[in-house]
This record gives sequence, structure tokens and C-alpha cells, in this order.
Amino acid sequence: MFYDLASSTWGPDELAAIDRVLRGGRLTMGDAVRRFEEAFAAKFGMRHAVLVNSGSSANLVAVAALFHVKDRPLARGDEVIVPAISWATTYHPLQQYGLRLRIVDVDLHTLNIDVTQLEAALTPRTRMVVAVSILGNPAALDVLRAFCDRHGLIFFEDNCESMGASLDGRPCGTWGDVNTFSTFFSHHISTMEGGMIVTDRTEIDHLARVIRNHGWTRDVPAGSDLFEPSADGFFEAYRFILPGYNVRPLEICGAVGLEQLGKLDGFVEARRRNAALFVRLFADDDRFIIQREHGRSSWFSFTIVLNPAGAPDRARIMAALRDADIGFRMITGGCVLRHEAIRFFDYTTVGDIVQANIAHDRGFFVGNHPVDLTPQLMRLREVVERACS
Ligand SMILES: Cc1ncc(COP(=O)(O)O)c(C=O)c1O
Repeated sequence: MFYDLASSTWGPDELAAIDRVLRGGRLTMGDAVRRFEEAFAAKFGMRHAVLVNSGSSANLVAVAALFHVKDRPLARGDEVIVPAISWATTYHPLQQYGLRLRIVDVDLHTLNIDVTQLEAALTPRTRMVVAVSILGNPAALDVLRAFCDRHGLIFFEDNCESMGASLDGRPCGTWGDVNTFSTFFSHHISTMEGGMIVTDRTEIDHLARVIRNHGWTRDVPAGSDLFEPSADGFFEAYRFILPGYNVRPLEICGAVGLEQLGKLDGFVEARRRNAALFVRLFADDDRFIIQREHGRSSWFSFTIVLNPAGAPDRARIMAALRDADIGFRMITGGCVLRHEAIRFFDYTTVGDIVQANIAHDRGFFVGNHPVDLTPQLMRLREVVERACS
């Protein structure tokens, strides 16, 4: 494809890492996973990181862990404030655990939650805020963190789209009490599938290790407060203390993750160079609303929302992009209210959801990759221009 949505960032280092794992014989959750977790936590200046088999599983395990913390655990029926645009599995674990969503509209320019509506979203049942930095662009994490602190709420950061981004010098994915990342193929680093739960809270780290691994104590460090070991070694070897899952990572994900993590800064720099060109090509043109950077974006992709005040027709532009062999897609998962799955949710909205619907109906994104995309972006500009004229 002339300009695809994503491309592989693997090379000889990743293949050699896989080869070492396969020859070593230990294939699941061993030393490579542990080393990747330690390196990941260190890279983001956090105490703990727990690798699982996807970003979706990271969200699921993190939500589950919050139901088992000793101090004020979440309970069914609690309310959670969420943005109207995110990926499906930001929301699905919340539904699966019986939480009630308070859906807040997004800002059409940043595509992140409109924080001017936070106070209106608050009810006596509110227990948590889920922040999502859409497509590399930091949400107002400082405002959201302060809001949570002021009201005694849990702050959950789903940072699956924004590895490498930061706000006020602090990395996205470190502002929450619990934070999640994805290392799926198209993301900033790739382990094929993969996700990470990151936290400074040792209790959450231990709970996540139990929940990802069948509810089993085996992967919990000695001396954990989660349970009192008995002297019966036979029983202790297979002790299940929580209703868990098996969302364990493979060793090759740990080994490849270590290689990729070392390249993250370079990847993000290359993405930012492409972003500078994209912004130059599309800014100052009222027909297009492109994502406005807030803090330092890691530019997952390039969004265009066709200005509702103007004429450009999305169907026409999409046909032109198809003809030009340029990949495009919906902005993240679009507006959550527009999917059939919403009928299974207990939710309310904070006022009308207007901007997220505009992004859903008039927006799309094209890919960003950690290599020079000058020819692709120049062609994109020409094709869009021609389709608009
Ligand atoms: C905001 C957000 N959360 C969660 C996920 C799920 O991550 P994964 O695809 O690794 O399951 C994604 C995936 O892109 C995402 O964009």
C-alpha cells in the first residue's frame, strides 16, 4: 500500500530476541517478561509494571484489581466518569464489573475529554475517572488528577494510545493510581499483542499478578500482604485467592518488548518529525480540524475532522483516499454511544454529546509511522485538496 495505517517496526534485533527465547525453552512468563517489566517501570519512573497479553487485558485486570484493594474497593453500581471517545475495551471491563458510566463529551480540537464538564459529571456515586489520551495527545491529566484528589476519586489512566507522550514533563501513563499501556502491532512499540499495567501501589501490583494468572498466588513476591502463607507446601503450590483470568504474556513478548523499549524515544522523535509536516500542511485551513497538540504528543496518527461549518464531504474524500491507496479509518472507536454494545451498559451522559458525534460522522485518521513519511503526507494533501475542490 502506498500509505498504510501502520507498519512493522521489527528488524534483526527483534528476530534475534525471539530466536533466543525459542532456543532457551522457557516460552511463557519467565525471565524475559520480568526484565521487560522492570525496564518498563524504570523507563516511566514508576515502581511496578505487570505485562499481560493485551492492552484490553490490562484494563480488565486493572479494573478487577480495584475491586479487591483493602481500602475503599470499587463496588458494583459505582459511577465512573469516561470520555465519549475511546476504544471499546476502555469501557467493556467497566460494564463487565457492573460499573455505571457517566459519559462526558470530548473537545473537538484535542479529541480528549472536555474537562469543563467534570463538576457537572460528579454525583454522590462517583468513584473513579478514566482518562484517555487520544492518539498520542495528552488529555488534561493535571486537571483530571487534581479533580480526583479533590473529590477522593480513583484516577485510572488508559494510556494505550499514548506511550511516549507527556504533559508538563511527566509521561502519560504515570498520572493515574493505575495506568495501562498497549503494545499491539500498530502502537508506539510492538510485541505483536501485549499490554502493561503500571502503578506505584504495591497492593495493586500484587493483585494484578494474581488476577492475570488464574487468581493464583504463584507470581506474587514473598512477603506480600495479600495472603498469609501456610507451612503446607503441597497446598501453597496451588493456592487460588481471587477469581482471576489467564491473560499471561509470552516470553517472546517480553524479549521483543525489551528491544523495542530501547528504541521508543527514536520512534517517537520520528513520529514527531512527520507530525510537524502534517501540521504545516493542514493547519490554518478552516475546512479541516486537525488534532491540536496538548503537552507533547507522541502522534499515534493524524486526525482530520471536516469542519461542520464547511462543505467538504467525507464520502468523497474517502473515495479519493481509496483510489490513491491511502489507508484511513475511524478516530479510535468513534463515539461510544454509536455502537450496539452500548445497550448492555448502565450509563448516563453529561448533557448532550455533540462533539464526539461530529468526530464520529465527519472525522477520520491516517497513519503515522516511525519513518519519514514526507512523500505520503504530500500526496495526502494533494488528494484531499482535489477531493474538496
Ligand atoms: C484507548 C485504548 N484502550 C485500550 C486498547 C486496547 O489495547 P489492545 O489492542 O492491546 O487490546 C486500545 C487499543 O488500541 C486503545 O486505543
